[in-house]
Amino acid sequence: MLSTRSQKWSKIPYHHGKDNTYHPTANPHGITFLNNAFNWLIYKDTTEFFNRNNHFDSSLCSYAEGYTGTLRLRTAMAKYMGRKFQPVQSIDPEEITFASGVTDLNEVCALVLCNPGEAIMLGRPCYGAFNKDLVMRTDTTIEWIDVGDRDQFTANCVQSYEAGYEAAKARGVTIKAMIICNPHNPLGQCYPEDSLGAIMKFCGEKGIHLISDEIYAMTTYKRQDRKSEVFTSVLSIDPTGLIDPKQVHVLYGMAKDFGAAGMRLGCVISRNREFTVAAQSICRFSSPSNFSMDLAAKLLENEQFVDELLEKSRQRLYEQRLVGEKLLTEAGIKFHNKGNAGLFLWIDLSPFLRSYDSESEQWELVDKTNEDGWRAERVLMKRLLHAGVVLDHGEGYACSHPGWFRLMYPVGEDTLREGIKRIAKVVSSPASSK
Ligand SMILES: Cc1ncc(COP(=O)(O)O)c(C=O)c1O
Repeated sequence: MLSTRSQKWSKIPYHHGKDNTYHPTANPHGITFLNNAFNWLIYKDTTEFFNRNNHFDSSLCSYAEGYTGTLRLRTAMAKYMGRKFQPVQSIDPEEITFASGVTDLNEVCALVLCNPGEAIMLGRPCYGAFNKDLVMRTDTTIEWIDVGDRDQFTANCVQSYEAGYEAAKARGVTIKAMIICNPHNPLGQCYPEDSLGAIMKFCGEKGIHLISDEIYAMTTYKRQDRKSEVFTSVLSIDPTGLIDPKQVHVLYGMAKDFGAAGMRLGCVISRNREFTVAAQSICRFSSPSNFSMDLAAKLLENEQFVDELLEKSRQRLYEQRLVGEKLLTEAGIKFHNKGNAGLFLWIDLSPFLRSYDSESEQWELVDKTNEDGWRAERVLMKRLLHAGVVLDHGEGYACSHPGWFRLMYPVGEDTLREGIKRIAKVVSSPASSK
């Protein structure tokens, strides 16, 4: 008999092992994975850099400097962030803690900031894995806040957070922190400076912590056809009169901007010494490899390479996003048409939600305002899988309306074309599969 908590975990399967991945010639019947957010458009450039720089000092085979980031890496990251995140106050390497990925550091934030049963609030839809990362091993709960018709990227989103905070309090829930994802996953938008200021002020007034997951910071590009929001880090906003800087914690990592998820390297930047010491104390369970840290330090120190890589990434992401938008439009599929960052398109398949009526043996449109809509979303998800295309669906992102899916577009163009072709086929032939 497993422990009670394991019995819960054993019902949450996780990606394990090699996939049957689509390739236009080598595996044309393979699956087009358009789910896991990864920047396939630059990972070869990063790999080439690593292959040119893989001369390791033998000290890396030892425990070396310990578990939470070598001084060389923390210094390189502080300097890099000084150049790219424009912090109001320069970042001291001692304010940076490394672990094996931002996934881990989200959990660390929950463990360090919340007692069991206390909550972290966040607007929805938002990165679905927060539901696991902040919760699974921590006994923290999540308060999803509905922003309703308000635009969650404008300063008046705070009215929704205020209402959500008070409603939770009335239910006896203690909220200890708020998390935002900027640039946003899955909407691909950046928070403007005034909205961030309003959120910081809200957290300051409530006395709660603000965790800002900025893992997609440098995937922001400028669109030619409409106004594009620039990326603004909370570190670049003067907290005076808004929030105690000890309540602000920023997450960043190598996975997205550098196409290096396999390095398993993330960091948290905090001006709160007590937070940092506590985080470092538990990060011994999730220590990154010295070899990863060595390569990451070399990469970040090479400013020319970094600047060129990020510029290439921005260009390729923008171009490929336009390809994705065109293919979706041709297929009659609408999408959230606002973002200029991130690795995904948030697509609206709600017009295609159907349920199978066994009496009439027909696929029928469903009522999207009740559980039927969510059931139909799950059915559509299965039908897409059956057709060889994997997307993340909105229910996992706590979306308020059924029928939205997240499509990760920076894959090879062949894969993107094939994936969207398969989606188009499924949604245009509702009776092809139950
Ligand atoms: C918002 C956000 N945070 C964290 C992560 C995970 O980062 P890492 O690979 O460093 O664990 C992801 C990956 O999809 C993400 O979208």
